[in-house]
Amino acid sequence: MLTDKMQDALNEQINAEIYSAYLYYAMEAYFQSQGLSGCAHWMQWQAIEEMSHGHKFVSFVNERGGRVKLAPIAGPPTEWDSPLAAFEAAYQHEVKVSALINKLVDLAQAERDHATHNFLQWFVGEQVEEEASAGGVVQKLKLAAASPGGLFMVDRELGQRPISLPPELTGGGKQ
Ligand code: FEO
Repeated sequence: MLTDKMQDALNEQINAEIYSAYLYYAMEAYFQSQGLSGCAHWMQWQAIEEMSHGHKFVSFVNERGGRVKLAPIAGPPTEWDSPLAAFEAAYQHEVKVSALINKLVDLAQAERDHATHNFLQWFVGEQVEEEASAGGVVQKLKLAAASPGGLFMVDRELGQRPISLPPELTGGGKQ
């Protein structure tokens, strides 16, 4: 059983995860408009991952007998000054999401909700990866700026991000 406070906070996180998907779809569109199909591909898969995160929260609230309450999703920005600026914004966004997850963990502790606390541990680990992955691209783009053709090399590399639907979205995952 979820407390009202915990349920509200989990519902807010559903909104934040779907907003993340919106943000990355917006970045995908920006990169397509710049002719950077590898960066666009990377963002598309990032957006799909975010949808799977939202799905995990929806399933968990349902499983705990809570009520999923969906709120409107804010519109993300549509333009960035450069590919580097877009990836820097993606990195900063992940730092913000990590802070939201940490706040949820704090709340689960305060509410003595061990099941939610346990569920959130997956996201604590995932955020380490999310920050490292967006931050890694920021570093690559900074290095690439120094060499001619560097941006296109990074674009080609990002285009090789493996395509695999998260099990949550194919019916193969428990959550
Ligand atoms: Fe679902 Fe990228 O945090």
